[in-house]
Amino acid sequence: MNMRATEFTSATGGGPAGPADAGERNLAPATQSPHRPTAGGPACGVARPHESARAQVAGGATYVDDIPEVKGTLHAAPILSTVAHGRLLGVDASGTLAMAGVRGVVLAGDIPGDPVLATFVHDEPVFARDTVNHVGQVIGIVVADSVVQARRAARQVQVKIEPLPAILSPREAHAAQSYVLPPVTVRRGDPEAALARSAHRLTGQLEVGGQEHFYLEGQVAYALPLEQDQWYIHSSTQHPGEVQHWVAHALGLENNAVTVECRRMGGGFGGKETQAGHMAVWAALAARKFGRPVKLRLDRDDDFLVTGKRHPFAYDWEVGFDDTGLLTALKLTMLANCGFSADLSGPVADRAVFHVDNAYFLSDVEVASYRCKTNVQSHTAFRGFGGPQGVIAIEAILGDVARHLGLDPFDVRMRNLYGVDDRNVTHYRMKVEDNILHPLLATLEQTSQYRQRRAAIAAWNANSPVIKRGIAVTPVKFGISFTATFFNQAGALVHVFTDGSVQVNHGGTEMGQGLHTKVMQLVADELGVPFERVRCTPTETGKVPNASATAASSGTDLNGRAAQFAARNIRDNLASFVCGLDGCGAGAVTFRGGEVITPSTTRSFDEVVKAAYANRIQLWSDGFYRTPRIHYDKTTLTGRPFYYFAYGAACSEVAIDTLTGESRVLAIDILHDVGTSINPAIDIGQIEGGFIQGVGWLTTEQLVWNEQGLLTTHAPSTYKIPATGDVPEHFRIELWPEPNPEDNVFRSKAVGEPPFMLAISVWEALRDAVASARRGGAVRLDAPATAENVLRAVGN
Ligand code: MTE
Ligand code: HPA
Ligand code: MOS
Repeated sequence: MNMRATEFTSATGGGPAGPADAGERNLAPATQSPHRPTAGGPACGVARPHESARAQVAGGATYVDDIPEVKGTLHAAPILSTVAHGRLLGVDASGTLAMAGVRGVVLAGDIPGDPVLATFVHDEPVFARDTVNHVGQVIGIVVADSVVQARRAARQVQVKIEPLPAILSPREAHAAQSYVLPPVTVRRGDPEAALARSAHRLTGQLEVGGQEHFYLEGQVAYALPLEQDQWYIHSSTQHPGEVQHWVAHALGLENNAVTVECRRMGGGFGGKETQAGHMAVWAALAARKFGRPVKLRLDRDDDFLVTGKRHPFAYDWEVGFDDTGLLTALKLTMLANCGFSADLSGPVADRAVFHVDNAYFLSDVEVASYRCKTNVQSHTAFRGFGGPQGVIAIEAILGDVARHLGLDPFDVRMRNLYGVDDRNVTHYRMKVEDNILHPLLATLEQTSQYRQRRAAIAAWNANSPVIKRGIAVTPVKFGISFTATFFNQAGALVHVFTDGSVQVNHGGTEMGQGLHTKVMQLVADELGVPFERVRCTPTETGKVPNASATAASSGTDLNGRAAQFAARNIRDNLASFVCGLDGCGAGAVTFRGGEVITPSTTRSFDEVVKAAYANRIQLWSDGFYRTPRIHYDKTTLTGRPFYYFAYGAACSEVAIDTLTGESRVLAIDILHDVGTSINPAIDIGQIEGGFIQGVGWLTTEQLVWNEQGLLTTHAPSTYKIPATGDVPEHFRIELWPEPNPEDNVFRSKAVGEPPFMLAISVWEALRDAVASARRGGAVRLDAPATAENVLRAVGN
């Protein structure tokens, strides 16, 4: 953006005064002295670097494409549909087969097992067969000696398709009743009667775009044949267990014939929860056909065209409210653009329904959710998993209500918050027991100096005809647990070796979020050894079976607890052993600072381990955890789907240029709840990253499908993710100081996804700026708020 910086400084000179304004970004007091590691001190509650940080920066961290290739490895590239919907009449690869290095093609007929993937809903072919359902759908793959040869050859394959009418938008799909799954409605009270009684009523519409995951490491899998029809798959996946399941299913084998490993991903963001399975299946099918190891790494443009994204949503609502802005009735319809197959669209759309309340009590309400089938990529998990699409609806509505009444939107939001003693049951009938919204928002109101800045911005705008500023505070209440209750389980395996060093393996995967680091911290403290004595091994289906996806922000809650339990078993073994030596009770033994302390003797951990080994004491153990207290009825979406809620709030200040539509984020203040932080440095990193990724979703990341259904924005040249220059100078993050009232591991709270939704405050601040450029009327600002959309909003 080419805006003059001077025009875009904050109305109050760069945000509120205070220590945060010392000139550099303040990463919250939490990262300062009390949280630095100390010698002999605990591993948890301390700001430690990510276990791979140095290796990643130095190029010493291995990703799938860095694994030394086995001799004879072949490379694969996909053959893509160029038509959004059509009958597949034939594939002619004859010319391709003559090309240098080409070994052959793999098509639907080469699948020995089930040609349809083993998903929840059995609706997604491994390769398109009789019909194609989106531009970019994979029809087969070309296998060649090098990746460049394979990609070149794939483009030369002649595919004959007879086009059929295509549905490209969720509104078209809804009109044609084209759905991947049946609709779901959640209802409470009598919204029709309550609407009729309401002092004020408004209707509204909104369109919110999808989002490409843009993991820095693209989708990749490497399939290696082992002896006797067994397979080893390296996969960049959030869900090795499902990749194992899919590969076995497609190859017509039992799960025990397939092992899947993931050391780390270069980002997943939900985009490798199911989508990674496709690469693995395609690579394994090719490996089987040619009897060679096969690697499949998608080119970035193909990655855009082939894999699903965040679900775009369309909304229609009617809302009733009183003179103070208190909501009295709501009827909301949400259309999720699911693409051509169900994938995770059911649980994503469910989570959107679960989050339309965000932080607010809705008395008489009906939410209807339609899961629209369209001829585009099959949309999938993306940070927040439908939550952001739910939250933005109610924030849009509350902003409209406040502007309609001429009230401060902050006051209207406060007025509608869940109560503590009453007004505390969600529309899906879960009691909100851990509500900290009132003190949290009141604190942020003070620390961000929201009131003073709103007044200053109003005065500034009055004298600025072209550049307009806006400010908004929005809260987040995000439900933690997989909505599919059975996923909320985890296992771990901890080994103590005879030298006293410790290895932990668990079912979770590392994608940059710091899961392994936190699990290592928990294990270190359970055994009372320094953090440096613990290593985490790659995630592997042969070590911890049937693990859930690392998703729903619950990686640490689930795997951290399982690993803690495993370590506890070993500690108990060691404690009884030293008790026997010293004649004390097991409760009298302390493990701390690399020492094992009984009332009579202090020994080093290593010494105890050696002696225990010599006495044939088990030095390794498994651990298993399942989340307590959760249940719900899948048909009515009522019950207690979440163990607890994570809370937060953000105050965002923005500026828009009313002549060009360009915008800029000027200042951000965040107060976020991670319970007792296991690692404040990692948690703050997650808040920063999640927030900025949310800003990208709502401002610059625009996916454009043309009339033929081709995604035209399929490269970084046309699809703009936020860069460092988009991070405002004033970016102040503080952590809420209270522990999780639920007995979650270390009394911490999940952090991976909730901060993403704090970025909705930026979109609301943009609407606030647009409002001051207009002479009244509702502000319709579709997301992303690109320059075009901002101009449209200002002008209509
Ligand atoms: N952070 C990084 N650096 N990279 C990622 O891919 N994925 C996010 C979040 N934070 C992601 C990330 C998503 S979508 C989820 S669900 C969580 O991390 C998953 O990890 P966790 O459950 O261990 O927090
Ligand atoms: N979040 C993320 N992934 C999931 C969920 C969820 O709630 N349910 C199933 N997969
Ligand atoms: Mo995250 S969208 O639950 O992988």
